[in-house]
Amino acid sequence: EEGGGAGEEYLFKIVVIGDSAVGKSNLLSRFARNEFDANSKATIGVEFQTQLLDIDGKEIKAQIWDTAGQERFRAVTSAYYRGAVGALVVYDITRQTTFDSVTRWLQELSMHCDTTVGKMLVGNKCDLDDIREVSKEEGKSVAEEQGLFFMETSALDSTNVEAAFEVVIREIY
Ligand code: GTP
Ligand code: MG
Repeated sequence: EEGGGAGEEYLFKIVVIGDSAVGKSNLLSRFARNEFDANSKATIGVEFQTQLLDIDGKEIKAQIWDTAGQERFRAVTSAYYRGAVGALVVYDITRQTTFDSVTRWLQELSMHCDTTVGKMLVGNKCDLDDIREVSKEEGKSVAEEQGLFFMETSALDSTNVEAAFEVVIREIY
């Protein structure tokens, strides 16, 4: 309501990373616009959305960056990570290989950002529980080992989408 001024102090850059087709772009569109696309195309390059949040009465501007999981579609990595204060590392609970890649994504993150970055491990597509390949316990235990928050989400049915972003933002803030 007050607008301008003080609000500008709280601009947080958050990056979303993980293998192709784990649902990064849909998590972002669900969070920012409450939209889901069952036929979304692979991201090429980098996109971002800015979302205003009210955290404890403070206006927070979250600038959330989304890039391609596929190497050949990715933009310059160092620019993508520059200035990030939070990260969502996403895998797909129905594809073990995407969970195996989490270690590699965390390595890349640690190469480009310092250790204070707020990190959340996200097991997406929890609506597909009947074809799950990664148990919730496995997700939880990797998160504990690596010192990350953990949540299972569904961009399709909205489970924990807001919560996942908000926990990371609260950690930073
Ligand atoms: P890249 O841009 O290639 O890195 O992929 P991405 O991680 O951005 O994946 P994207 O959001 O494009 O989603 C890939 C596919 O998974 C699409 O067909 C989505 O509709 C589907 N999808 C995304 N999230 C969910 C979810 O929570 N549940 C289900 N059932 N499908 C999902
Ligand atoms: Mg994408």
